[in-house]
Amino acid sequence: MGGLAMDAQGVAEITGLLWGPLVVLTSAWRGEANGMIAATAMRAFIIPEHPRVSALVWKFNHTYKLIEQSRVFALNLLGAAQLDKVRAFGFNSGHERNKLADVAYATKTTGSPILPDILAYLDCKVVESMDGGDVTCYLADVVDAARFRPGEVLSYSIWQSKIPAEWKPHYDAQRAWQVESARALLEGQRPGK
Ligand SMILES: Cc1cc2nc3c(=O)[nH]c(=O)nc-3n(C[C@H](O)[C@H](O)[C@H](O)COP(=O)(O)O)c2cc1C
Repeated sequence: MGGLAMDAQGVAEITGLLWGPLVVLTSAWRGEANGMIAATAMRAFIIPEHPRVSALVWKFNHTYKLIEQSRVFALNLLGAAQLDKVRAFGFNSGHERNKLADVAYATKTTGSPILPDILAYLDCKVVESMDGGDVTCYLADVVDAARFRPGEVLSYSIWQSKIPAEWKPHYDAQRAWQVESARALLEGQRPGK
């Protein structure tokens, strides 16, 4: 008994059914602002007057450092055709360059960037976080929100089916680097190592 009844690829395919829509998750701390793509943001509440969301942030991302300091973030919901935003915010790190340098963003209650042209936003304050070793899972109160236009959100499956072929090598290389980085974080904290 115990262990997986399936191979890792099979499990990855089934858990892939749980991916959320792609959002630009932004944060800011002491004048520095940044944003990254996340596919792990979810609605996380029961009582309508206490709206909350959860999101998983990988520790090697620059956005993680900002959230850890500020304890705030915003979810920028994308329309189904906004694949360009995935490339702009999900393929490069704020460790290397300011991804918001040429973006005329707004701020609301928390100071986290609200991007132009998005479908809707949720401005959030962290109430609890859980350390997963390679990732941190945040539970956050929604303190402000607005919808700018109707339309379908950019789902993970739309992204997968429409990603331009010329973007794939960069995307795949980045994924491989992320898996290695996560593995290093998890192995680095195993007792006895
Ligand atoms: C489709 C897609 C989904 C992603 N989902 C997440 C996620 O849920 N959490 C996360 O921390 N990073 C996620 N990433 C990775 C970050 O967006 C990516 O590493 C980004 O470059 C980090 O930027 P930063 O270092 O400036 O924060 C995703 C990337 C893509 C392309």
